[in-house]
Order: sequence, then C-alpha cells, then structure tokens
Amino acid sequence: MHSMRKMLKKHYNIDAENILPKQGGWASLAYQVYDYKACYFLKVYEKNRASTPKLTALIDQYVPVMEWLIHHSNLKGKIPVPHLTRGGDYKCEDEYGIYLLYDYIKGETIGNRDLTDDQVFQLSNIVTELHVYGEDIPMETDDLRDHFDVPFLQSLKQTLNKERDALPNDIRVLIHPYMKQIHDLVITVDKLSVRLKNSDLRRALCHTDLHYWNLMQSGQQLMLIDWEGLRLAPVEADLMFLVYKPYYSEFLRIYRRTHKHFSPNPMALRFYQGKRKLEDVWELIEQLLLDQQEEQERRVTKGLLKEALRDTS
Ligand SMILES: Nc1ncnc2c1ncn2[C@@H]1O[C@H](COP(=O)(O)OP(=O)(O)OP(=O)(O)O)[C@@H](O)[C@H]1O
Ligand SMILES: [Mg+2]
Repeated sequence: MHSMRKMLKKHYNIDAENILPKQGGWASLAYQVYDYKACYFLKVYEKNRASTPKLTALIDQYVPVMEWLIHHSNLKGKIPVPHLTRGGDYKCEDEYGIYLLYDYIKGETIGNRDLTDDQVFQLSNIVTELHVYGEDIPMETDDLRDHFDVPFLQSLKQTLNKERDALPNDIRVLIHPYMKQIHDLVITVDKLSVRLKNSDLRRALCHTDLHYWNLMQSGQQLMLIDWEGLRLAPVEADLMFLVYKPYYSEFLRIYRRTHKHFSPNPMALRFYQGKRKLEDVWELIEQLLLDQQEEQERRVTKGLLKEALRDTS
C-alpha cells in the first residue's frame, strides 16, 4: 500500500486518504482510492502474471480512443473516464505492476444476473453507437486493427502435442478427453482465419469482451467497462456475445435502425466464437503452467479450465 501511495502521489498528484482492495476481474487487481476531492478506480496489472504483457500492450492505443469516444460520440456517461498521469501518459508502472486510473463508478456489476428490458435497451444502444465509428475516425488506430491472427494458436498446438510427456499430470488428465475436439476447433479457426484475411469486411470499433462482468448499473445508467479489448474489427467480434441471448431479435431491431439491413456474416461469427473458446482454454492452461498460484487458486483455475474445455464442442 505504501508504494501505491507513493505511485499515486508521484504520477497523479493524489494524496490518497484511503486505498481499499476491491473484487477485481480475472486479469487485474482493483482498488478504490479516495483523496479529499474524489474517488478513483485503480486497475493494477501485476508484472508477475503471464497474461499482463498481452493485456497491457495496447493501453496507449485504446485509452485515447476511449477519450475520443467520450468527447465525440453519445457514449459519454456510458463508459469509464480515464485519468492521465501528470506527464500526460495513459498508464504508469513500477517494478510491481502497470497502473491505470479511472473515475470510480458507483454502482453494481451485472455479473451473473439477467438483464432487465431497460438494460437490454441501453446495451443495444451502446453497441449500436460504438459500431458507427470505423477506420475513418481521426485517431491513430493502426495497432487496434484486427487482422484475424490467432497468435496463441501455435503455443496451444505445441502444448497439446507434448501432452503425453511434458505436461504436469493434473493438467494432462483434465485435457485428455477433449483433445480431438480442441484439435478440430484449431483446424476450423485456422482455416477461417485465412479466409477472412482474404475478405474485405467493414471494420468498426468493437469492445470484444461483452460479458456481464463488464457491465455496471450506475443509477439509471448502464455502463460498459473494461475496454482493453477495444479493436477495429468486423462487428461480429461483438455480436458473438449477443446472438444466443433471448433478446437478440430485440437487439437487432434497435441495431438496424442505425445499421440498416444489417445481418451478421456467418464466417466472421464462427471465427470469433471459435477463437474465443480456444483463447479461454489457452489462457487458463498458461496460468496453470506459468503463474505461481496457491493450492486453492489452482483448484479454481482448474474448475474454470474444465468448463472452457467442455465449451469447445
Ligand atoms: N471504474 C470503475 N469503478 C468501479 N468499479 C469498477 C470500475 N471498473 C471496473 N470496476 C469493477 O471491477 C471489476 C473488474 O474490472 P475490469 O473488468 O475492468 O477488470 P479485468 O480484470 O480486466 O476483468 P476481466 O476479467 O474482464 O478481464 C468489474 O467487474 C467491476 O465490478
Ligand atoms: Mg472485466
């Protein structure tokens, strides 16, 4: 806490009165920070976690686009407000972690709950608005452009190939029944990736992680948080989270008022769905192989891996 206080003073000129650990997400730690003026949300990516380099690589690209959206779209008040450091940077770091600071959002995460009709309406409008913006926004978006690459696929294949000998026993036992099904999905995703690279689909700004742990209800407002997945991609990168929801037709009705005659591209949809399933599996395997986890934490990760493996069918 002491070093965090120092970091907040040095980089944000905040005299922290109180720093409270909060329930974070899967990828980062979270703290509520008070000073005498305001309340902030501090997101901390620990440097000793395997997922951190990937999740923090594009901070300097996606945070400015979030800011642009706050100023130029109707998403103001519906997405988190980032704070820059004294030096005008979007993040800061020390030997322990990489830090991002936001306004604190008072409210509740949707999490495991269903959306109410009003929340469906608000979410549909947020996604509709986000997808209005594409390659033509006056911002540097080259690094956010999705090229249908699946960078982890090679490592996943290699890990599965050494299944018999090099993997720790508990992971091997878990994976074994799903080997064929994972292998089939790898081949499908590989093929779709090549086909999509040769296609010419429109790209729009996409959140790419539209699950309910990234939605908060704050007063009357539904807010979409956790923008580290912000990309310029075919809109199916977001729609894959919505197509199986009971309210999908209502979503489409709202969406088509702006995006006339839209219908999803089946190939892009299959690609993003398959990629996501494999990515979930890979990230959990990587955590078990590389992160130093306590016994209980490892049990939880194995439970999540089992679910992710089942989901690859
Ligand atoms: N600005 C904020 N104010 C208050 N609470 C927040 C704020 N941003 C996020 N939270 C809370 O912290 C949790 C984790 O935040 P976030 O989803 O950004 O982190 P994450 O570790 O990247 O999650 P994920 O597992 O989706 O990758 C959210 O589910 C939400 O409950
Ligand atoms: Mg999250």
